Amino acid sequence: MAESLILRADARSLPLPDESVDLVVTSPPYFGLRSYRDGGEHYTGQLGAEASPSEFVDALIECTREMVRVLKPNGSVFINLGDKYSGAQGQTQTGINGRRHVSDSAATWRQTDPRRTGIPNKSLMLMPERYRIRCVDELGLIARAVIVWAKPNSLPESVTDRVRRSHEDWVHLTKQPRYYSAIDDIREPASGYARPNGAGREPRGGQKARKMLDTVNPRGRVPGSVWEIPTQPFNAPASLGVDHYAAFPMEWPRRLITGWCPPGGTVLDPFGGTGTTALVAAMLGRRGLSVDLSADYCRLATWRANDPKERARAAGTDPTKVTVPQPDQPDLFGGAA
Ligand SMILES: C[S@@+](CC[C@H](N)C(=O)[O-])C[C@H]1O[C@@H](n2cnc3c(N)ncnc32)[C@H](O)[C@@H]1O
Repeated sequence: MAESLILRADARSLPLPDESVDLVVTSPPYFGLRSYRDGGEHYTGQLGAEASPSEFVDALIECTREMVRVLKPNGSVFINLGDKYSGAQGQTQTGINGRRHVSDSAATWRQTDPRRTGIPNKSLMLMPERYRIRCVDELGLIARAVIVWAKPNSLPESVTDRVRRSHEDWVHLTKQPRYYSAIDDIREPASGYARPNGAGREPRGGQKARKMLDTVNPRGRVPGSVWEIPTQPFNAPASLGVDHYAAFPMEWPRRLITGWCPPGGTVLDPFGGTGTTALVAAMLGRRGLSVDLSADYCRLATWRANDPKERARAAGTDPTKVTVPQPDQPDLFGGAA
């Protein structure tokens, strides 16, 4: 089992050598959505708090340039980025012990004010699209795929004139056309089109008869571009005195690491938050690096990286069947963080 390392740093200037990372899996802050905290206060330097959409994309491109610097030539970057409606207000969040964090709705209004941004009121701001186009045009990255994250448990919305938002997406970026992948390890069960008796289609004029099963990989189909993964609330223990509302489900890093990081390789999350990516990476036999600018979130990620139940969940073991090791008991996971 590999280990994870939690680092407090700015994603604009990562304390890592060039070409040292095999895979980046990350979800940066969304524009104007949340106020991330350190010591209970909104902290400066965080992404998402820029005055305008273009300044936000500038900052995210600067961070992506840094991800590219530390990425090996045959590596991949997967980024999850959400959108925002023009003219939208901030969000209220309720955390541990019922404490409420209200993001500054006046500030959010300034960020999304159609008179300042030039984006028509009620329009999507198209942040993922603006970002992806600049990754290709300015950073010379190859946009290999956009994977839709379908959320079966998405929240209700009170709108009556458009569809409810029940998805986000992830972009897969590479530095060069050939790169590491182990797609066989994340194939989906083939269903619907394999004919169990091997019967072939009727050959059309001049075509050779072919058995259908000849064309079906016994390990299943290459995953499609829509992945249905429920969101998973993360509850930090109250004793840590820190909340985090934006952890992604472990299933995302689990699939991406299995499919695009070699065993024993290094996975980086430069906006690590609660350390989900690094935790899953370690449990999959990779080295996980989690970077966050908030000391509190680094403390939370360090706790998570060492918590037996969180480690069991990340390893895909039923957490209800895990015994927390006692001081005189050997560590279930051999002591590696
Ligand atoms: C959407 S959350 C990531 C959550 C993470 N995927 C998880 O599963 O816990 C974004 C994180 O980026 C951090 N962040 C914001 N600006 C940053 C910066 N300039 N450098 C490093 N981290 C930053 C925030 O503190 C926040 O924890």
